[in-house]
Amino acid sequence: MAVLADRCKEIKVTLVDIDEKRINAWNDDDLGNLPVYEPGLKAIIRRNRNKNLFFSCEIAKAIKEADMVFISVNTPTKKSGFGAGYASDLKWVESSARQVADFSSGHTIVVEKSTVPVRTAELIQDILSDSENNSRDSNNKKTFSVLSSPEFLAEGTAINDLENPDRVLIGGEDNDAIKSLGKIYERWIPSEKILFTNVWSSELSKLTANAFLAQRLSSINAISALCEATGAEINEVANAIGADKRIGKKFLAAGPGFGGSCFQKDILNLVYLCKYYGLDTVSNYWEQVLTVNNWQKERIASLIVEKLFGTVTNKKIALFGFSFKANTNDTRESPSISIANDLLENGANLMITDPQVLPHQIEKELHSRDSETITDLKGSWSFTKNLEECVKDADAIVILTSWKEYEECDFRSYSKLMRKPSWIFDTRKIISKDSLKGSGIKFWQIGMGTLNYPKVF
Ligand code: UDX
Repeated sequence: MAVLADRCKEIKVTLVDIDEKRINAWNDDDLGNLPVYEPGLKAIIRRNRNKNLFFSCEIAKAIKEADMVFISVNTPTKKSGFGAGYASDLKWVESSARQVADFSSGHTIVVEKSTVPVRTAELIQDILSDSENNSRDSNNKKTFSVLSSPEFLAEGTAINDLENPDRVLIGGEDNDAIKSLGKIYERWIPSEKILFTNVWSSELSKLTANAFLAQRLSSINAISALCEATGAEINEVANAIGADKRIGKKFLAAGPGFGGSCFQKDILNLVYLCKYYGLDTVSNYWEQVLTVNNWQKERIASLIVEKLFGTVTNKKIALFGFSFKANTNDTRESPSISIANDLLENGANLMITDPQVLPHQIEKELHSRDSETITDLKGSWSFTKNLEECVKDADAIVILTSWKEYEECDFRSYSKLMRKPSWIFDTRKIISKDSLKGSGIKFWQIGMGTLNYPKVF
């Protein structure tokens, strides 16, 4: 919405939320306090805030004034009830739709921006239709058009993804509404990149795009294990297969498993949807993408324990990176959570570092595992931003996020501060093995077949 306001100065954009603390943070004079860390975002907020971009808790007023309402609330995986563990919880979508029904006036275009299971637009439409019917004879006659326009941005590159998207998707039946939204996007996006579909295709495309991307990662991560076992190198394999234009070069970096708020949730949704329609084989097929992802996280934790003589009890392990990827402070579903928890359960003393994630966030994530496991936590953890303090006397460094500052570290000199024998586990392939030559360090890297390399660098 901030990018939309930036590109369309004559459109007034008001962001509303029931969370007053969050709205206050968006309005904070100190732009360092914005609730989201995203490169380039501060500048856009600075340019537009209180001009045509507003943040407010006055939900009724904003809806009443609006010609177009974007529903962009979260749709987390349900924790209980029917479909628990798979289906999306649509309570926020539903309550937003009810608020739109209650407070709108005249004709309102409602755009479903949240990622939702297929046919959610129908739920929104049903709620709004009731309100249309009830208002028919009143002074405030209400009408609605519902569109689906899922968001494809990735965190960390959000501003560029919004300014130069590969495509924008608009799903709907009402041509006038479709044109109105299309015209807004056409202000900065070439018209051939704006795709029109029916509502259900639009909703399903978002789930499918994320499932395909995640599937690619599980595929390359599965092959990373085979590389390690055979002596092949994952980046050589990735380069070789990526050179085939039908496969393509992007999204082939093997890692500790994918995280983020979308992939797992959307696949679970797809799995649930397929089951619901009786497509059990299709459902099992997509679920395997998650099985491989969980396996990748577990196998990394367990190989760390195994390499450290089968025990990490009371050993200091430096964890580099807690966000689910670089350039974001988001930790949702980060592979660091499950790897850290596994190491803690094995008695490790973790020293965690991350340039953007705050310790209270880590605290929340590490204790979000089911309560049974929490009581089993045997190790301990602490946090520092100072990398030298982080590695001092550590038995191992585990790189989990590819922050630029880690790529620039002098790991040879860090190895001198560590307890011997010292290990580096590089799950993001950010260290060149040549840079460690002569350091005496033991080195494990994702997808690196060790058969061709020395055991100690
Ligand atoms: C994803 C989709 O990319 C985006 O289109 C959708 O709208 C939301 O979900 P996001 O979760 O923000 O975006 O990040 P993404 O860049 O896709 O990364 C997801 C995870 O995959 C991260 O943990 C990342 O580290 C990992 N990843 C990504 C890899 O391990 N290797 C890669 O080559 C790319």
